[in-house]
Amino acid sequence: MRILSIETSCDETAVAILEGTGGGKDGGAASFKILGNAVHSQIATHREFGGVYPAVAKREHAKNATPMLASALEQAGMRVAAETPIPDGFDTLLEREYELSRELREFLSKNTIPDIDAVAVTYGPGLEPALWVGINFAKALALVWKKPLVPVNHMEGHMLVSLAKKDGTTLTLPDEKLPLLGLLVSGGHTELVVMKDWLSYEVLGETRDDAVGEAFDKVARMLGLPYPGGPEISKLAEEARKDPAPSPFKLPKPMIATEDCDFSFSGLKTAVLYLLRDRELTEPEKAKLAETFEDTVADVLYTKTKRAIEESGAKSLLVGGGVSANTHLSRVFHERLAEDYPDVTLYVSERSLSGDNAIMIGIAGYFRALRSEFKTDFVADGTLALVA
Ligand code: KG4
Ligand code: ZN
Repeated sequence: MRILSIETSCDETAVAILEGTGGGKDGGAASFKILGNAVHSQIATHREFGGVYPAVAKREHAKNATPMLASALEQAGMRVAAETPIPDGFDTLLEREYELSRELREFLSKNTIPDIDAVAVTYGPGLEPALWVGINFAKALALVWKKPLVPVNHMEGHMLVSLAKKDGTTLTLPDEKLPLLGLLVSGGHTELVVMKDWLSYEVLGETRDDAVGEAFDKVARMLGLPYPGGPEISKLAEEARKDPAPSPFKLPKPMIATEDCDFSFSGLKTAVLYLLRDRELTEPEKAKLAETFEDTVADVLYTKTKRAIEESGAKSLLVGGGVSANTHLSRVFHERLAEDYPDVTLYVSERSLSGDNAIMIGIAGYFRALRSEFKTDFVADGTLALVA
């Protein structure tokens, strides 16, 4: 089955084309050939503002959606010139997406209908104005190409793609042992989710304030580092770790001892703020502070994950989302899990697939399509949850 997938929930405009084989209604081993994969990151635009603003994100998605589609089709060898009729209804559908409409109409009318079986698109969670661009885009493709549509939960995408092993352009997913626990850590989310039955979820805990990626970004900003701050903090901290001297700093570990699987990161951020307000740090001291911040975050995340393993009886654990690219976090999870739960299989998302992309939406879309979960009428849901 070939799936064309679209992701526009935050600051990446992405289109992918996957050919999936294997798996079934209840999961099982599957593999995916990446036929095309195009991602446009809005980081450079958002960097000027120090964060993501929905109106700016929406405009950027509208501008980049058609070029990303063209690129993915090109890579897949599916971009073939041909007159294609544009049905009535196209303009009404894209009425509110005038920035997208003209260019897309032009492109679709001059290219042939690609050999795909379905179109998958993220419908939540995320920034609603941004999600709508992707949804209307997907609906337009489905209309012109007469293909079924699969709405996808962005977090399910992060979960499933984190299981994948990548070899060149092939992704393989194992026949997973359930219950599978997922720690999803990104700029918008920090949650512990358990999949007890295939594609059926229970959220065990989540952040009560900031997401962990947000904490990385804010602390980075306080240290004078550019957005997004996660990779910058990571670089600085890895540098500091080469100096074995213990860090002179100590930061609070909010909620680490509470008897639940929830998180809180705003107090940690504030602690860094006060520390920096009270004294001027030298460059090596800043690096040590970055190290302490990472140690603190990794300890809190692992401690809560451990609690969630106990609570869920998880047989496997995955760590996914943008922050899972953090070297120290991955190291802590590998070391401590091997010691505490040698029988629990650990998956850490492939680095190239940890941030937002359309491949993850294609994988989730594939498994949803195997269950014939096609829909024509659905709306953006900014706070969409993973449910049973
Ligand atoms: O999943 P993602 O690309 O987008 C969201 O859905 O939010 O995650 C982006 C977040 C940003 O906060 C970024 O700073 C963080 O992931 N991040 C990292 C690293 N790489 C990205 N945080 C810590 N260490 C990293 N190496
Ligand atoms: Zn994400």
